[in-house]
Amino acid sequence: MSDAAAFDFDRIIDRRSLPSEKWGRYAGRDVLPLWVADMDFAAPPTVIEALHRRIDHGVFGYTEAWPSLVEAVVEGLRRDHGWSIEPDWLVWLPGVVTGFNLACAIAGEAGDGIVTAAPVYPPFLSAPDNTGRLLQRCDLVLADGRWQWDWDALERTVDARSRMLLLCSPHNPVGRVFDSTELRRLADLAARHDLLICSDEIHCGLVLDEDRPHRPIAALDEAVAKRTITLMAPSKTWNIPALYCAFAIIPDAALRRRYRHAMRGLIPHVNVLGMVATEAAYRDGGAWRTALLDYLRGNRTRVLEAVAAMPGLTATRPEATYLAWIDCRGMMAARRVEDPAAFFEAAGVGLSDGRYFGAPGWLRLNFGCPRATLDEALARMAAALVA
Ligand SMILES: Cc1ncc(COP(=O)(O)O)c(C=O)c1O
Repeated sequence: MSDAAAFDFDRIIDRRSLPSEKWGRYAGRDVLPLWVADMDFAAPPTVIEALHRRIDHGVFGYTEAWPSLVEAVVEGLRRDHGWSIEPDWLVWLPGVVTGFNLACAIAGEAGDGIVTAAPVYPPFLSAPDNTGRLLQRCDLVLADGRWQWDWDALERTVDARSRMLLLCSPHNPVGRVFDSTELRRLADLAARHDLLICSDEIHCGLVLDEDRPHRPIAALDEAVAKRTITLMAPSKTWNIPALYCAFAIIPDAALRRRYRHAMRGLIPHVNVLGMVATEAAYRDGGAWRTALLDYLRGNRTRVLEAVAAMPGLTATRPEATYLAWIDCRGMMAARRVEDPAAFFEAAGVGLSDGRYFGAPGWLRLNFGCPRATLDEALARMAAALVA
């Protein structure tokens, strides 16, 4: 049996019967939720079995990260991304959003600037303000059907107030996997302006294009590693976000001390079940991940073909993630629609409104769901556009 056949991503699991953010938003309504970034698939069997074993023990006392967990993560990064890290570079966190807000809090002083590229996952846009910093936004540009850095605009955005580059790599929502040349250019800019780099790499296990490997920016060289806080988690790849386990990788001892200091008394320890799941995912979740990527590639093709046939909508091809980023401005003008999210919600499909990503007129579609759900959602969207 092939890996793909060993796991059943077509199985529809009823999520309406339990509380969930994704499905709860439309409780009692016939709206298929393709918004918040979790998938409608069960976690890998190996993760579920590890959780069962731990739960059956019955005692849930305080627990620090243990050696085989650390080893699973260190080995996973070496195996999957060719990055050799030292165990003591790891700082365990209850979430990646927590992780980049902490990074903002130690970047310079109140009022200093945090540079980030939009459109972007909304908490990137609020983290500077949450921590008394200034958001310095630079927009990515769409050129030849591919989202790119606008290097001139980026140079103009960085100024004497800038203290940190907050990077999303691979990028949510545009789905880009940044290559070594782009990462090198970003790292050089950070060095020239003496910026910290905080690189949110939560989507690094979800690269769909086989010829575009994810490269952690900190893996470029030691000098880049020294100024970088990398954030990762098993939560997106293995679909366990509500188990709240993430980690920062901070090679520089002084930076790590500052970071840990900012956590004191505020950031709780990581839930033991999250850590159990993390160990199982990194050590034994490879076959499931391979099969998942295969399934997601199929879903990506379906989304791109369906959207291409929808008048007034265009989507770029996500190189990573299970998120499609859709330009609705043509449809809005042609049909005099002011709110595309509300338009498709009325047609029975719940999408993420690009306005919160800094891009009104765009929608984000989550295709991490069984094909039958996806096909039904795409059919509803198409029907709304011919009505
Ligand atoms: C880029 C990015 N960072 C962080 C998160 C959430 O991370 P966490 O739930 O660990 O805070 C998401 C979730 O969608 C995301 O897309």
